[in-house]
Formats: sequence, C-alpha cells, structure tokens
Amino acid sequence: MPEGKKKPAKTGNTRQSTRVLKEDSLPNHSNGSSTHRMPRFIDLFCGIGGFRIAFERAGGKCEFSSDWDKFSQITYEANFGEKPHGDIHHVAVADIPAHDILCAGFPCQPFSIAGVSKKLSLGRKHGFDDEKQGNLFFEVANILDYHRPAAFVLENVKNLRSHDQGRTFEIILNTLTDTLGYTVYSKIIDAQCVVPQHRERIFLVGFREPRYFEFPDFPEEGPRLSSILEIDPPAKYTLTDHLWQYLQNYAKKHKAAGNGFGFGLVDGNDIARTLSARYHKDGSEILISQGPDKNPRRLTPRECARLMGYPSDMVIPVSDTQAYRQFGNSVVVPVVEGIARAVVKTMNRPVHARPDLVLVGDNLTTVSLPKRTRTPVSYLKPPPKRKV
Ligand SMILES: C[S@@+](CC[C@H](N)C(=O)[O-])C[C@H]1O[C@@H](n2cnc3c(N)ncnc32)[C@H](O)[C@@H]1O
Repeated sequence: MPEGKKKPAKTGNTRQSTRVLKEDSLPNHSNGSSTHRMPRFIDLFCGIGGFRIAFERAGGKCEFSSDWDKFSQITYEANFGEKPHGDIHHVAVADIPAHDILCAGFPCQPFSIAGVSKKLSLGRKHGFDDEKQGNLFFEVANILDYHRPAAFVLENVKNLRSHDQGRTFEIILNTLTDTLGYTVYSKIIDAQCVVPQHRERIFLVGFREPRYFEFPDFPEEGPRLSSILEIDPPAKYTLTDHLWQYLQNYAKKHKAAGNGFGFGLVDGNDIARTLSARYHKDGSEILISQGPDKNPRRLTPRECARLMGYPSDMVIPVSDTQAYRQFGNSVVVPVVEGIARAVVKTMNRPVHARPDLVLVGDNLTTVSLPKRTRTPVSYLKPPPKRKV
C-alpha cells in the first residue's frame, strides 16, 4: 500500500474506504443537545475567577458566581465588575440561573464525604438529610441534579483520587455517573507544562449526553521562572536575616531527622514548587535566590499572578497576605483554558462522536457510548433553602 494512504476499515465483512475528517470539516450535528451559541457557565467557589477567565476565553458567558470569602469577592469584583454570591449553602438552587456548563473548584471535605459513604452503608440519614453533614461536593451534585447542565468541569487536589483508599473519589464518581447520569472523564494535569510551577490537580469533566472527550494536549516542557520574575522587586520581599537563619536551621533539623524538603530555593532557570495558600506565612516553599551576597526573597503578588497564568492586567486590590492566599488557592488559568476550549468543542460535536470521526463509505462511523441511566438517591433531595 502506498505511503500516506489509510488502510480501508472493516465493517462486518464489507471492506469500505475510510477517511479521517479534520476537526474543522465536521458537519454541524447538534442532536438537539449541543450549543452553538455562547455557552453559559456558572462559576462556583469562584475565588478570584480563574475558571471565569478561562471559560470567557473559550467563548463562554458567566451567568452566576459564588464565593463566601469577602477578600476574594473584592478581587473578583475589581476584575469582573460583579460581586459573587456568598455561602452556597444559602443560595436556593432554583435561584441559580440555567446554564450549559457548571464550573467548580470545590473545596475538599473528604471526611464528610467518607462519612456519607459509611452512613449509606449503615442505612442512616446521610448527605442532605443531615444538615450538619451537608457537604460542598453534594451542593455541586444538587445543582447538577436540578439544572442538568450539558457539561461540568470540577477541579480539586490530586490527592482526592487516593484519599481514604480511593473511597472518597469512588463516591464522587458514582454520584456523578450512576446517580446523575453524566459521562465522566478525569485526569491529573501538572501545570508545569504552561507555567513555571509544579502543580498537579485533578480535573473531572462530565457530559449529560454520552460524549467522547479528550483532554487537550499541553506542551511537554513549559517556561522557566525567569519568564515571570520582576526585574526590580521591592526590597520588602527579601527575607530578613532572622527569618532566613530560622528557615535554614529548620531545614537542617528536619533533614537530619530524614523528613521534609525544607525550603525551596530556586532561580530563573528552575520551576517552582506548588504555590500554597499559606505562602504568606514565610514563603519558604518558593524562595528566589538573589546570589551569594544577598538573602533570598519571596515572590511578589504580581509574580504569583503570573505563576498561576493570570493576565498582566489582573487587578490585585487586596493586601499581600490576601493576594498570596487567593493565588495559592486558585487554578492555573491556561490549564483550565485548554480544558474549557476542549469542552466547548466537544459540546459542539455530535453526541457519541469521537474527535477523529471516521467516514466509512458514505456514513459517519461513531462508536456509541452507553446512555447512562440515573439512580435517584435521597441525599440529592435537599431541604428547602433560605433565599439569599
Ligand atoms: C480552592 S478555592 C477555588 C479557587 C478558584 N477556583 C480560583 O480560581 O480562584 C475554593 C473556594 O471556595 C470558597 N468557599 C468555601 N466554602 C464556600 C461556601 N460554603 N460557599 C461559597 N464559597 C465557598 C473559598 O472561599 C475558596 O475561595
């Protein structure tokens, strides 16, 4: 067979010609469930709007946001002109507008999720039947149950998958698939492909219809710290002699005991460790070397914004302490942007269609994913909620 020609595909006993359709030449099959208009999304646990920037770049329109942290609300409002709603427990699910995509970097409360599992097996009250155990993941599940958006994107720490020997993740997956009927894909992505930071997060992408989805490909190698460092950062970010000595002593002690990595001293050629929400405490996980004659310094809030992939015009209206907390809690924008674009593209494809649709003869060949059925459970029937 000449090079470059595809082997004809076999369909039963018939040999027919096959060609792979390019993404852009796909016909517009909506099956009544895809959206070719601007997809509407909601931004739950929105923090400072990492999901919002990503989904707006992918062509989405934000319909609703929620975060109860007043300082995150200040940053969000300064950047998007809208103050997020507060505690999600106090938002009536019916007051949330209809949407196509639900986005949530929900805080992880695995113990209460594990609690639900145990209670389920003991046949006791669980989840929404028990106000105290009301869990933020189940708030998300409840909104999915009520609004049935075409898709969702959830983000969490990598350990969600292994917590409680995998039971927490199993309950989350079972709820999304068996209970709510979504087709779900998950992947751990390390943001160092797009920013100079090792940051592994798990993403769960789900579709109401049984759709094929592929997480986007990111570059093998990302940028180095030199790409985000300020040329002349203010002196206040340089560690005092006292703190620098303390960190070195602490690291020595722990190294001798065989634990921990101590501080993380890096320069422009390196990539940083994960920026945490507690970076404001001593900044020890990412210290920028300033040569042998000067103490290292911590990152400035603007550098943290860049380290998380935020655009240069991101307004930082809060104190350094709050800014470090907010960026340390955030998503890496270009990672979510890649996922957002892939989700929107997938929603615009025919249901069941694989990304590389194959034409067999005159017919589009699609491999069917099973239509998921839903198994209602009582914990997704919440008690009436107070209005905001
Ligand atoms: C991991 S952060 C998400 C950050 C966000 N994805 C971003 O890019 O900035 C979780 C957020 O959930 C918020 N949160 C926690 N409990 C909440 C609740 N009951 N109602 C609303 N927001 C809540 C926290 O204030 C925090 O900003």
